[in-house]
Amino acid sequence: MKKILITGGAGFIGSHVVRRFVNKYPEYQIFNLDALTYAGNLENIKDIENQSNYTFVKGNIVDESFINELFSLHNFDGILHLAAESHVDRSIEDPLAFVKTNVIGTMNLLNAAKNQWKNNFEAKRFYHISTDEVYGSLGAEGLFTETTSYDPNSPYSASKASSDHFVRAYGETYGLPYVLTNCSNNYGSYHFPEKLIPLFINNIINNKPLPVYGDGNYTRDWLFVEDHAIAIDLVFHEGKNHETYNIGGFNEWKNIDLVKLLCQIMDEKLGRSQGTSQELITYVKDRPGHDLRYAIDASKINKELGWKPSVTFEEGLEKTINWYLNNEEWLQNVTSGSYKDYYQKQYS
Ligand code: NAD
Ligand code: TYD
Repeated sequence: MKKILITGGAGFIGSHVVRRFVNKYPEYQIFNLDALTYAGNLENIKDIENQSNYTFVKGNIVDESFINELFSLHNFDGILHLAAESHVDRSIEDPLAFVKTNVIGTMNLLNAAKNQWKNNFEAKRFYHISTDEVYGSLGAEGLFTETTSYDPNSPYSASKASSDHFVRAYGETYGLPYVLTNCSNNYGSYHFPEKLIPLFINNIINNKPLPVYGDGNYTRDWLFVEDHAIAIDLVFHEGKNHETYNIGGFNEWKNIDLVKLLCQIMDEKLGRSQGTSQELITYVKDRPGHDLRYAIDASKINKELGWKPSVTFEEGLEKTINWYLNNEEWLQNVTSGSYKDYYQKQYS
């Protein structure tokens, strides 16, 4: 039986990846390592917590001795590394937290894998999950490809870029078998309501202002999270060692257009007259160093591994909004922080 370590599996994307792997691969023993920060919530994976091929481990990837001990207990065949500090606005407030988790934490995992596998890399794989934000900002034209130079602008993207470089360096220097993906903005269920789409859904439900940064003319390329999990599964199993793949939704939206669409759908769903939610839009001070545009050329993963998004944006957004409306308790627990007290006590 293969032992697979997934880090950050109580977070947004990680929970979708853990669910997919636990359900799809009963022959794997899946270990979900997560520190349960504000963004980690075991409610996100409650449906699989009792499956026999699943084990949750609470721990911090920044803690080198803890990581070494974990690797002394288990010989992992594969590592899917998603644990990270992930929010740009928080990185502007506290950059060091991002260096600790995203850079030092990744280093601890790389060292533990290298020491465990020594030079016997047969059927081993370190998969580092990263972001398109490492490439910096696009102007009005063009797309990020796998050969676009790194040019990160926020402390978040700088920390992810740094970790990407270390992963590559461990591949070149020590022969560590790695794969790396850089993905565009995700949306979907279990997304913490600090990021644009879940924050605005929550605010619309609660009739709170919708804070649009600057003039709202910033562009993001949105991908449904379950399609990201499918891509991660594919790259983990079929990607080539020492390769990078870009993953994106072929789906660019200016923030303000996306927010107006959200308002329109939410008015329909909530039985409010059209235009009600748009009145909540409030233009606020811009984010410092705000990247103008991200957009991914995902043709490599499409051509080499046959991946493309399985749902349209309309379908994905509909599923996402329905999920939030049907899971208001989750939203309330997350926004009140009550989930945290519960799980922190259970696992302290
Ligand atoms: P998230 O913030 O929702 O979840 C992060 C998870 O990591 C949480 O469960 C948290 O508890 C855990 N974690 C944080 N610090 C930790 C530590 N020191 N030790 C152990 N666990 C820790 O993040 P997400 O949006 O699911 O992103 C997952 C990964 O995907 C990240 O590496 C992120 O950079 C990358 N990514 C995210 C997006 C996106 O749109 N959200 C897009 C591309 C890439
Ligand atoms: P976000 O969801 O934080 O993702 P990222 O910064 O990683 O792209 O933000 C998406 C876009 O929405 C980005 O251009 C910033 C903007 N934004 C707002 O205008 N208001 C908000 O309250 C938030 C959270 C984001």
